[in-house]
Amino acid sequence: MSVQDVAQSVLESIGGKSNLLSSMLCMTRLRLNVADPSLIDREDLNDIPGVLGCVGRGSNGIEVVFGPNLVASVYQAFCERAGTMPAVEGTLSVAGGGEGKLSVHLSPGSSSVPPRAISAARTEQTASDPGSSEMDVLTRLLQMGEAAEEERLEGEGKGGGGPRLLVLNGPNINMLGVREPELYGRADFAALLEVCRSCAAEEGFSDCVCYQSNHEGDLVDQIQDAYQNFDGIIINPAAYTHTSIALLDALKAVSIPAIEVHISKVDEREEFRKVSYVRKACFETISGLGIKGYAMAIRDMASHLRREEG
Ligand code: DQA
Repeated sequence: MSVQDVAQSVLESIGGKSNLLSSMLCMTRLRLNVADPSLIDREDLNDIPGVLGCVGRGSNGIEVVFGPNLVASVYQAFCERAGTMPAVEGTLSVAGGGEGKLSVHLSPGSSSVPPRAISAARTEQTASDPGSSEMDVLTRLLQMGEAAEEERLEGEGKGGGGPRLLVLNGPNINMLGVREPELYGRADFAALLEVCRSCAAEEGFSDCVCYQSNHEGDLVDQIQDAYQNFDGIIINPAAYTHTSIALLDALKAVSIPAIEVHISKVDEREEFRKVSYVRKACFETISGLGIKGYAMAIRDMASHLRREEG
């Protein structure tokens, strides 16, 4: 089955063009919103070659998972069939090189595409083909992102780039500083992010993507999307620590080295906080050190990855 046929089957299985409200390309999946969710045929979707699974998202959304290799080409064909404007989830940053060389890097974690990245792709695309459509520009954007990623991976092979780190925080961690300061301290979430970014840079990580969500499924998605994209995960699942088998299963599925962090001394608090599901998928747990615990986790992760490599 060709990529065009796959895209056409996806469109038909969600109730056709007229049912589609919006679509977005993510690292591994198509994120689709429809007018009438009852028209989605999940069985049909799951039977399409290349589809790894489907997940509902909100009341009228569905995500169709293809994996990182196939998803961009399916999305391109899908937008052509649906006649819609493409949209990308991810951070696209542009590094302007000498001699007219530009590199665009696509990484997970945000839903905005910087205008500079789009205009760089538009300049490149229209230089080679003045009659280019917006679709051509997106394709160019993705190609530039992929090329930069390949370059980065090649560089890593030659020992050029450091490992990539994902820091995940669960519900209410964004309320740090305001939330029960006697337990969690007065430092706010911005301070936590700064600790992570600066420590990751000191330890030689090439990237430190920090993601916080109040929703369990979002955290599962981030862990899945980390597959083949990140080398280490530091996770404070917050209250989901004590309840979530889904997070445990996701960590086990991707098999990326992980460290569990808690700001407070979870083992000295209520009985229910002594249970941790994710702990079984983590090689270390750090708790009770406040936001400094994240710095310790990052240092330990760096030494762990160095040991693994050597
Ligand atoms: C926490 C401890 C959890 O029990 C609690 O639900 C949190 C934060 C911590 O960092 O200490 O939200 O994970």
